[in-house]
Formats: sequence, structure tokens, C-alpha cells
Amino acid sequence: MADRSTQTLGIVCPRPFFWLFAIAALLFFVSWFLLLDSTSPPHFIEHMVPNPKPSFNSKTREADSSLHNAHSSFSDSNGPREHETAECDSNNALLKVFMYDLPPEFHFGLLDWKPKKAGIVWPDLGEVPDYPGGLNLQHSIEYWLTLDLLNSRSRSGPCVAIRVLDSRDADVVFVPFFSSVSFNRHSKVSPPAKVSRNKLLQDKLVEFLTSQEEWKRSGGRDHVILAHHPNSIFDVRLKLWPCMFILSDFGRYPPTVANVEKDVIAPYKHVIGNYVNDSAGYDDRPTLLYFQGAVYRKDGGVIRQELFYLLRDEKDVHFSFGSAVRDGVKQATKGMHSSKFCLNIAGDTPSSNRLFDAIVSHCIPVIISNEIELPFEDVLDYSEFCVFVRASDAVKKGFLIKLIRGISREEWTRMWKRLKEVEGYFEFRYPSEKDDAVQMIWQAVARKVPAIRLKVHRLRRFTRFKGDEKSKDLPDDYYWLGKQVPSF
Ligand SMILES: *[C@@H]1O[C@H](CO)[C@@H](O)[C@H](O)[C@H]1NC(C)=O
Repeated sequence: MADRSTQTLGIVCPRPFFWLFAIAALLFFVSWFLLLDSTSPPHFIEHMVPNPKPSFNSKTREADSSLHNAHSSFSDSNGPREHETAECDSNNALLKVFMYDLPPEFHFGLLDWKPKKAGIVWPDLGEVPDYPGGLNLQHSIEYWLTLDLLNSRSRSGPCVAIRVLDSRDADVVFVPFFSSVSFNRHSKVSPPAKVSRNKLLQDKLVEFLTSQEEWKRSGGRDHVILAHHPNSIFDVRLKLWPCMFILSDFGRYPPTVANVEKDVIAPYKHVIGNYVNDSAGYDDRPTLLYFQGAVYRKDGGVIRQELFYLLRDEKDVHFSFGSAVRDGVKQATKGMHSSKFCLNIAGDTPSSNRLFDAIVSHCIPVIISNEIELPFEDVLDYSEFCVFVRASDAVKKGFLIKLIRGISREEWTRMWKRLKEVEGYFEFRYPSEKDDAVQMIWQAVARKVPAIRLKVHRLRRFTRFKGDEKSKDLPDDYYWLGKQVPSF
């Protein structure tokens, strides 16, 4: 192309000066082309190379592609992503999920649903029972995730998790036990029974799981257990240690049983409604700092009391007592909508629904909880929309109030805008929508899949010696996670 253009131009304009220019231009283009060539191969070469023969077996390639998917799955923009196609099938889904058909008493039966015929396990999607309201709802992830799986082959929208019917095709095995509602509704022992229905269900679950072929293949490592209420699956959590848990925090788990590497932290469902069309900026929020909750709590909650004494005389700080139900919700909504900052102090667990109430109220959370774990923190930078204060600093006289008053209107507004951008990630709904809490949880699970595969593959090293005494030893990662850390 360069040749032809110099030739044509040469006829029109044959002066030596022009030739000099043309040669220089030609050299420039040639060198530019060579430079490009050295960094990336030109496209036409790509087409001439035959498709590379797969050098791995299909399993490995699968693992590679899902690893790639997991990393590219989240981008904080509205652009389309690889797994977002019009038709969702197990070939283009981000996460393939096998779900046990547990009897209804483990899931929708707990919501008083009764199958019309024996042998029916799941409700028709048109007649799904409601989840119990009030504070029960904050732990309702079990409901939304299960519904999403049941609906995964018919819904439109991003292709994140899909239910597969053959467990051998699955990335993870989902255990649809509604453990939070089981705890909330059935932890009392009602005579003549000797144990609660909640405990009975947990024992039955463990018995069921450990006898399954799927469990035996992975030792449970690819099993997903939902335990959002801090007290759910309390009686059997130690037996389920190899599984991936979906939790609200790790407060009541030994680090050997649940930890940030293995497990997924899910948001609470907020109790306060969304602040739609919020135009209440810095000057429209007269209260500087807002706190609602019980002031005197046991364990980690001692700091609430200390902060109360430190802050109660500050004029634009509001402390209100009581929980967020009924009247409380109305009051808290008003309070959070008219405050610039909302305090989140560790209670008897490191996390609480209050953080998510603050987020959807666009009230900048001030988090004082050393042990808190935050949902999706591997893809979300909470410092962009939350203020973190160490508990040891917060109780120093004047420290907290000086810090908060020192945050400028500009910085506050930046965080307020960011809150409006991220609030959708904490929204539970059915059917799920792009990057809402349901899909964010699936994406977080998908990011753990490569690590699960590693563990399962390691576990298989000695399967040929099945039945010999040594293979009955606990699997090797037990020694790392458990008490029996090897000495070097
Ligand atoms: C929010 O704003 C939109 C567009 O202006 C409007 O259609 C909608 O009714 C508003 N919603 C509420 C709850 O105010």
C-alpha cells in the first residue's frame, strides 16, 4: 500500500523535496509495522495457524476456562460480560450447580408448603410460599438462592448459576437446607420430643450427606452449605468442616472450620426499604452520626456502652435503642435518611443487618468491628463508601467525633454517590437480576471453584488404595486446617 501511494504521488508531484518526504514516510511506516510485529502478531497470521490441538484432557481445560471466567466475571461496569448471553445453558454458565432433591421438610416444608402428591420435592414456581417476615428475612439467602436455581433454566438475564441434573457435570453441590428458618422456628424442644426439630433435621442432613456418592467423591469439599443465621447448623457445623459455607460472619466458628479462604460471606437482607430517588445530600441530612440498636450487649458489644458514654453529649449525634422491627423500622428509616453517617458497632456477633440498612439508606457506614468480614470484599473496596475505625481508637476520648467532623463535604458526597452505585449488589430478589445479591453470591462461589478442585484432586491421589488402612486416615488438609498441624 505504501508503494502504490508513493508511486501515484510521484507522478503528480515529482519534486526532489517530495521524494525525500515520501521516503521518510515510507521508512516510518515500515519501522512502525516492525514494531507492532514484535509486540503482537498481526491478525492475518493467527488465521493461518491451525487450531492448537488440546494438550490437556477435557477436565483440565474446563478448569482453566472456569478459572478465567471466575476472574473476568466481575467488573464494576455495565458492559456485557462473557457469560451474559441471551440463552443460558450449562455450556456458557459461570457456575454449574447440582442440587440435592432433599425432602421438603428441609426447605419449603419449613415455610409450611405441602406437596400435593407424594414424591414431589419442589413447589411450582408459580406458587412459591413466602419466607417468614420481620427479622427472619435478614437471613433469607437460603430462599433466594434455592429459588434462583429452580428457575435457572427458564429465566432471562445473565447466565451465572445454572442447575445441572448430573452431579458429574457440576462445579459445586448445593445443599438446599433452610437452616436459618429451621433455627428461628424450630429450635425449641416441644415435649414429648426429646430434641428440637432443628437438631433432628441437622442430624438427618449429616446422615444423608455422608452417604451420598457426591460426598464420597469429594469428601464434601465441593458442597455448599447455607448457614446465614449465626446459630444455624450449630449442632453439626464441626462435622461439615470440609464444605463451603455461606455465612454472615465467622464469629461463632473456629477458624479451622470456617474461614475467608474457603467460605463465602453473604449480605443480610436489609430490613429498611430502599431510598428511591435519594436527593438528600450533605446539607439535607441534619444528624451527623446515627446509631440504632441495643446499647448493652454481651461479649464483643462492650464497646457500644463505652461509645454511648463518649458520644451522648454531642449535639448532632443520635443514639436510639431497640431493634428494627415494626415501629423501629419506620423510625430507623427516618433516622438513617436524615443522617450523614451511620454507626455500625460490633454486637454479640461481628456483623449485623444494620450495615446493609445503612447502605441502602445511603448513610455512610462507620464500622467499628475488628472481626467483621464483608461480602464480596475481593471485588469491592469498602473504603470507597465506608469509614473503618479500630475499636481501640474509637474508645479514645474525642477520637471518633473529631474524625467524623473532619470528613469534608466533598469526600462525603463522593462516598454517598458510591453507595448509590453499589447498593444493588446487596439486593435480594426473585427472579434475580444482573449483579444483585443472588448473582454476586454465585459469582463469589465461582471464584472459589479452582481452590475446591485443587483440594479434591489432592484428595484423589491415593484413591487406588481404597480399603487399605492408611486411606482411612483423615485427608491431608485436615492437618493444616485442624489441630494436628505437622511439626517441621
Ligand atoms: C423516582 O424518579 C422516577 C423518575 O423521575 C419516577 O418515575 C419515580 O416515580 C420516582 N420514584 C419515587 C418512589 O419517587
